[in-house]
Amino acid sequence: MSRLSIARAGALVLALAVPPAAKADSGRPDAGALPVPPGGTREQVLLGDRIFHGEAAGGKCAECHGDDAKGTANGNDLTLGLWIWGDGSVTAIKATIGHNMKMAPGMDGRLTPADVDAVVAYVWAIGHRKD
Ligand code: HEC
Repeated sequence: MSRLSIARAGALVLALAVPPAAKADSGRPDAGALPVPPGGTREQVLLGDRIFHGEAAGGKCAECHGDDAKGTANGNDLTLGLWIWGDGSVTAIKATIGHNMKMAPGMDGRLTPADVDAVVAYVWAIGHRKD
């Protein structure tokens, strides 16, 4: 075994030893504490959180918008309550995501209409946090 592969094996062991709770450092909001949009449900916000972070429906949102949704070089901050497109209402967010899905099929993940409603509720919620 070369020194490099020993170092790699060490890194792998370290990565496996880190408990999932360490993910809290990513700044991912506690979805259970987020507000629920008008006409939406807590269940949608919770499912939307999982889709956003790639744990359901092949969602890819966090890859570009960040685990904390505060943006990366590839996607803007969704937490400020300031929107490039529309007024931040459920209807406007849904229209934006629908547009993106049409322009770049598969980019967002494999979202059913119910998945879209859930991730819209989640994006609304992170844009309307009180803290
Ligand atoms: C490949 C990178 C990428 C992925 C994946 C992605 N986005 Fe985006 N998203 C962007 C970029 C870049 C913009 C801003 C582009 C623009 O000006 O239209 C954007 C804009 C948005 C907006 C509009 C923001 C505003 O200010 O009006 C919303 C809402 C949004 N994304 C939600 C999502 C959701 C939800 C997902 C997953 C289902 C997702 N995005 C996946 C890159 C991405």
